[in-house]
Amino acid sequence: MSYSGSAAESEVRGGVNLRREKLVMKLFQSRVGGALLRRLADPEEIVRAGTAFTASQVVLTAVEFGLFTELAAGRRSKHELCERLGWHPRAAGPFLDALVDLGLLRRGRSGRYTNSRAAALFLRPAGPNYVGGLLELSGKRLYTLWSGLGDLLRTGIPEAGEERGGNEFFSTLYRDPAALRDFLTGMTGIATGEAMLIAARFPWRRFRTFVDIGCAQGALPVRLALTHPHLTGAGYDLAAVEPIFREYVESYDLADRLLFIPGDMFHEPLPGADVVSFGHILHGYGESVRRDLLAKAYAALPPGGAVLVYDAMIDPRRRDNLLSRLSSLNIMLEMRGGFEATLPECETWLRDAGFVDIRSCHLIGPTSMIHGRKPGPDPATRR
Ligand SMILES: C[S@@+](CC[C@H](N)C(=O)[O-])C[C@H]1O[C@@H](n2cnc3c(N)ncnc32)[C@H](O)[C@@H]1O
Repeated sequence: MSYSGSAAESEVRGGVNLRREKLVMKLFQSRVGGALLRRLADPEEIVRAGTAFTASQVVLTAVEFGLFTELAAGRRSKHELCERLGWHPRAAGPFLDALVDLGLLRRGRSGRYTNSRAAALFLRPAGPNYVGGLLELSGKRLYTLWSGLGDLLRTGIPEAGEERGGNEFFSTLYRDPAALRDFLTGMTGIATGEAMLIAARFPWRRFRTFVDIGCAQGALPVRLALTHPHLTGAGYDLAAVEPIFREYVESYDLADRLLFIPGDMFHEPLPGADVVSFGHILHGYGESVRRDLLAKAYAALPPGGAVLVYDAMIDPRRRDNLLSRLSSLNIMLEMRGGFEATLPECETWLRDAGFVDIRSCHLIGPTSMIHGRKPGPDPATRR
């Protein structure tokens, strides 16, 4: 007669293998075995990823309250910050100390707070390196948008209200002047670091003029004009963008070298220049639209001219594409045709459009640049 279950089975209670758990606990007590076990099976990464929204809210809330601007004026105690920013003291201590741990604030011996070097460089709104525009956009828009990720998975439909029904994202968003400004300054926050690298890594000396399609506030045109005195250029975008572009360009005293060209890239040919660039713009549309825009760029370029695309493209040569994949989900939440392409896909579209000498390189974070030339001599060598 068989006995019901083996000794090992009898140790299983409610799905828990008691014998194994006891063994693990014993191993955990040993100095060597415990350390090894913690290295092999540490849940910290999982927990950090799953709760990253908490740290995110601390940073976004600090930007929302203008904390970094307040501290740009000088050191402040917790008490002073509570008074000036209208905070209740209960949560202020852990909030400020979390920002210290995140590397954005420093706490002196007297207990007063200052901006860390990184915060002073990148989070002071009056500063030229301000990335807070993106954080403001994240706080006001993207944080809520991402709560619809489950719906995106179930339906494939963007969560953004601007794309509901047959609406088009930009024309709907730009009906609200405050949203227009927030969006454009947010784009400057994303694009400035990339634009500095594009100014350094693309062979600009071979060209004299450029036009940036979907230029937003003008992060790329401004960085190019600041870096290369021989270049003149234009930003091309929807007419609503013009005053915000002009204001930004004038703040850098570049109005004599940077024009704004109002237009709609879907309903007219693109303006001509030696280089036509598309930054964070192709990624919002389906493949056939991207191919059409690249064909328009080819038509607008002189022989030897170049097209330049920068986006959070997925690069199969890189081990870590997490930020590009998150960016892909972000643009899917925003726009119905959106997705981040892989670099080889984009390279194929450029080649099919007629471009040659196609090169690509990683810029920063999720973003890579790819460029190609229309066959012909360098435009800078033409008379
Ligand atoms: C995501 S933003 C990218 C901004 C900038 N290139 C960058 O890298 O930060 C897309 C830009 O394309 C512009 N845009 C959208 N539809 C357009 C159209 N039909 N014609 C011209 N520009 C358009 C938007 O106004 C916006 O400035």
